[in-house]
Amino acid sequence: MKIGIIGGTGGMGEGFALRWCTNHEIIIGSRDKAKAQEAAERYHGIAKEVYKKIKGNITGEDNSTLAKNSDILLLSIPYETINDTCSKIADDVRESCIVVSPIVPMTRVPEKGWIYLPFENGTKTAAELVAANFRPGTKVVSAFHTISEVKLRDIKYDIDGDTYVCSNDLDSVKIINQLIYELSLRPIYLGQLSLTYQAEVMTPMILNAARRNRLKQPGLKLTN
Ligand SMILES: NC(=O)c1ccc[n+]([C@@H]2O[C@H](COP(=O)([O-])OP(=O)(O)OC[C@H]3O[C@@H](n4cnc5c(N)ncnc54)[C@H](OP(=O)(O)O)[C@@H]3O)[C@@H](O)[C@H]2O)c1
Repeated sequence: MKIGIIGGTGGMGEGFALRWCTNHEIIIGSRDKAKAQEAAERYHGIAKEVYKKIKGNITGEDNSTLAKNSDILLLSIPYETINDTCSKIADDVRESCIVVSPIVPMTRVPEKGWIYLPFENGTKTAAELVAANFRPGTKVVSAFHTISEVKLRDIKYDIDGDTYVCSNDLDSVKIINQLIYELSLRPIYLGQLSLTYQAEVMTPMILNAARRNRLKQPGLKLTN
């Protein structure tokens, strides 16, 4: 599968690329093609040191070229950049492409802690803002919000935890669930994209818990 990572030069993008490259063709995306290619080369070097066999590969492209060629398009970009980034690539994305949002709209307020912006400002959830930027009917999946970048990038580390998934398209959920299992995580489907706030809000919750209770990179796992 061709997985394009818009903003793949950032920390989350690196982690996804390093872990999925064992089985998939990863395209790192950036506003600057040379930066994407440099990152792709670096990630490939790290992966080669750790894995005995890499069935996929990692290459770099500008965001628009990547969007035209991806089966899965992961938007690994800050919340504030959604409209600007998506409006530039929306026409390039294939009809069959699954767009994935791990984006968390949050900020840290002095004395208060981490807050979830849509609750504070009445702004849209990240995944719904993403969906609003693409053609109606585009398959959008919301996932990966509570996965720590530090753990994701450390490919010798077995992450082990849950990630919450929302989408209106169950066939897309099946495909993304498989990619989640490949990260050694368990997908937990919450429901339609309108419930994405329940997944996105978990991240500021975890960060406040970590800060106030001296927990190191905590994750989430539901018990039976
Ligand atoms: N960090 C975590 O632990 C974590 C955990 C869960 C979810 N998330 C979510 O995952 C997403 C990515 O996180 P991250 O920490 O990897 O993000 P990041 O490092 O802040 O940014 C990722 C990439 O986004 C691009 N970017 C930055 N500013 C931009 C702008 N103004 N316009 C367009 N593109 C811009 C940059 O790529 P180029 O300069 O190469 O274009 C950058 O490398 C975020 O939405 C975050 O909320 C993060």
